[in-house]
Amino acid sequence: MMIPWFFRRWFWNFIAWIKFALNKPLKIPLPPAKSALIEAVPLSRAIVGLPIDNILVCGPAQIPSDERSVAKSAVYKLQVWLYSAYSAMQAGLPPIDPDPLLALKRAYTWLHRTKFEPPVMPAEYLASPDLGSLAVRGPYEGYLQACGDGHFQWDLRGLGRFEVHPGLRRLGVRVLFKVDPLRRGLQAFQIDTELGTSLLDDADWELSKKMALCAVSAHTSLVRHFNWVHLAGGGALGIAMRNRLPGTHPICRLLWPMTYDTQQNADMVTRGQMLPGGDFETTFPFSFSGMCQLFEQTYAEFRIAHDDPAVDAASRGILGQGFDTPTQDNLQALFAVMHEHARHYTRIYYSDGKAGSGHAAVADDAALMAWLDELNALTPNGVEVTRANVTFDRLTRLLARFMYLQTVQHELLGGFLWNYQLWTHRQPVRVAVDGKREPLDVYQRLVNANYNLNVHRRELMHDFGKLALDEAGRAAMEKFNRDLIGLQASMDLQPWAAWKLYPRALKVSINA
Ligand SMILES: [Fe+2]
Repeated sequence: MMIPWFFRRWFWNFIAWIKFALNKPLKIPLPPAKSALIEAVPLSRAIVGLPIDNILVCGPAQIPSDERSVAKSAVYKLQVWLYSAYSAMQAGLPPIDPDPLLALKRAYTWLHRTKFEPPVMPAEYLASPDLGSLAVRGPYEGYLQACGDGHFQWDLRGLGRFEVHPGLRRLGVRVLFKVDPLRRGLQAFQIDTELGTSLLDDADWELSKKMALCAVSAHTSLVRHFNWVHLAGGGALGIAMRNRLPGTHPICRLLWPMTYDTQQNADMVTRGQMLPGGDFETTFPFSFSGMCQLFEQTYAEFRIAHDDPAVDAASRGILGQGFDTPTQDNLQALFAVMHEHARHYTRIYYSDGKAGSGHAAVADDAALMAWLDELNALTPNGVEVTRANVTFDRLTRLLARFMYLQTVQHELLGGFLWNYQLWTHRQPVRVAVDGKREPLDVYQRLVNANYNLNVHRRELMHDFGKLALDEAGRAAMEKFNRDLIGLQASMDLQPWAAWKLYPRALKVSINA
């Protein structure tokens, strides 16, 4: 059994490594004056084998010619073919080593390490996981919400509806937190799972914590990252940009580096991750049909306000509640730079921005209004700004939200998990009913998938001035870059920590 596994493991490790080694940061050309119209189609029509009707995407035949890459598509087709011809999975393998450092060392080989550093263990995982700290620091911060009586919760009970692979626990989980006023922190005191209700110091408290972390990690990767950032928000923005904003439009130039290649990239990575035998089905607990239902149902729950940290935190009732919110503060500082850029840049081109020499009010720009119409039609629950209520302030906040979605959210919920998701002794990727750790193939695939999320991609801190329409636009883009460098410098004055999201870690888009 172990000899075939040796070859299988190294074959797929080499594929992961070569993808990492060959990936070069995207070169972003000027946008074409006009693109062919993209008709959004159900995912089930775009990709045969994915029975999901409510998610709208650009079909493979409609990928814009300036994005289309025959070579990249061929590589992904080969990868999907290999899922059945020589799968990365092998039934009956033993579990990973109980020593997490040894388990990681065996899966994250010398070859991987030639391209990327191994993960760092966050402070919260050094001992029994500190859920109260994870609720306010790091990638799961967005799950915390007030639930009455001065208590707070992670409410992932909805995940219990979706079918999991045989032998695994279902992920419907709720964690209750109370405020510790002396520490200005939170403490988890109750966890509800399929095991029942577990209280602090109960015999199954540690297992309940693992189930909570398994649930929040799976939801982050599948729902918040891929479904909401890529398919819902990023997908709608990519199509609406192509369809309604000409290449010479100032808002097209502002968002172009964040949207170029969206259609080509979405087609490839959706196949590689969501088709039967793909990363999602083989790594996370959900069966293929459970995963499809999860995507279908949670797509409809996307809200653009998730991409506005202050508004989102206020709606969750977590501000000014007697505990510190370090990641929230971090995210608001990043959003503030983007919001300032959106306002400063847009003011150049519209008279209702007041200070600039803009030519017209935003509501008088027919192309911009058509873009809003399309965004509202394509985005689940709309984008809150319509041609009926648009103002300069609302427009620029929306622009900042899209920048934040493409850069901050995508990093926070994707590559940033590198330091969290591989420590499965604290945060299992699957929880087996028999209590066994993940088998070798599942862990190896988790490592390789996270590795490939961290390929070298075009950074946000970059001079995009060549995309500007004019000197004023160029100066605004240069100012944005300087503001990001300034925020980075101010964060560098404090000690580094795994939970902090730095401007220099941000990539310009969701596309590789
Ligand atoms: Fe991504």
